[in-house]
Amino acid sequence: MKHLLDTISLTRDDAISILDIAEEMTQVSEREVKKLPVLRGRTVVNLFFEDSTRTRLSFEAAAKRLSADVLNFSAKGSSVSKGESLQDTIQTISAMGADALVVRHAGSGTPHRLAHTGWIDVPVVNAGDGTHEHPTQALLDAFTLRRALGGFAASGAVKDGPRGRGLDGAKIAIVGDVLHSRVARSNVHLLANLGAEVHLVAPPTLLPWGVETWPVTLHYDLDEALHSEDYAAVMMLRVQHERMHESFFPNEREYARLWGLSAARLAGLPKETFIMHPGPMNRGFEISAAAADSPRALILDQVENGVSVRMAVLYRLLTGQEETND
Ligand code: NCD
Repeated sequence: MKHLLDTISLTRDDAISILDIAEEMTQVSEREVKKLPVLRGRTVVNLFFEDSTRTRLSFEAAAKRLSADVLNFSAKGSSVSKGESLQDTIQTISAMGADALVVRHAGSGTPHRLAHTGWIDVPVVNAGDGTHEHPTQALLDAFTLRRALGGFAASGAVKDGPRGRGLDGAKIAIVGDVLHSRVARSNVHLLANLGAEVHLVAPPTLLPWGVETWPVTLHYDLDEALHSEDYAAVMMLRVQHERMHESFFPNEREYARLWGLSAARLAGLPKETFIMHPGPMNRGFEISAAAADSPRALILDQVENGVSVRMAVLYRLLTGQEETND
C-alpha cells in the first residue's frame, strides 16, 4: 500500500490492518507521554486547499504523536491566491523535503493526480477530495463502530460488546445529503467490504447518479427506513450548502421536518442504536440537540478515534509495517 486515496480500492486486509494498528495507537494516546519515536526525522505536509477544523488538527496530532515534523499549508493566505498552480505549489513543497502529503482539495480526484503525475514521489493521503472520497473518515467511523459493537478484532476474535458481532452483518443507515458527501461514498465501500449492511436514506434529489450499482439498500423516506430495520447505528450527514448551486429541497424547515434526526425520531429508535455524525453539525437541521448530545451519540468518539486511525495510516505508509513493534 503506497498511498491512501480511496476506500473503493482498499483491500479488506489493508483496512483491517489499519484498524488493528489504530487499536494499538489508542494505547499510546492514553499514556501520559503520548508519543512514539517511529517517525522521528520525517516530515508530513498537510496541504489543505479547503476549509477544515477536525481533519487538519487530527492529522497534525497524529503526525506529532509519531514524532514526525509537520508543515501545515492552507491555500488561504498562500501564493495560491496569487495564482500559483497546483504543480508549482507541490514542487515547492517537495523541494522543502516532504516525506508524506496529506491533501484536502475541492477538486474530486486531486489526490490521485498528485500520486500519479510524478510531481512528487511520496505517499499521498486523501483528506477529502470534492464529493469523491474521504477514506480516513470512513476508517475512523469503522473503527468507532467496531469498538462500539464489540468486534474488537475484525480479523479474528470477537469480543463481547452490546451486540458482540462487530461490523459483520451490522445494519448501518446513512442519512441525508449523500449526493455531495465524500464521507458517505467512502463509508459505503469500506463498511460493505468489512461485512456491514449499508442502507442509504435520502430524498431522490440528494442521491448520486449510478447509486443503484452501489452495495446498498435505498430508502426514500426516513420514517419508513427507521421503522423497517433494527440499525446498529444511524449516521447523519451534514447538508453541504457550499456544494449546492441549485435547489435540492424546498427549504430548511421542510428538510428538518422530513429528514432531520429529531428528538421524536431518536425516541423511536431501539435503545442500543448508536448515533454518528462526521461533523461539523448543523444542529437543529439534520440533527437535533437531543440526538447530538444523547449518551448513545458516538460523535466525540469519532473525533477522538480519528487521531489513532490517522496515526495508523501514517505509520503504515511511512514505515511499510503492518503492525507496530511496540
Ligand atoms: C466532512 C468533510 O469534510 O467531508 N467533515 C470532516 O472531515 N469531518 C463532512 C462534512 O464536511 O460535512
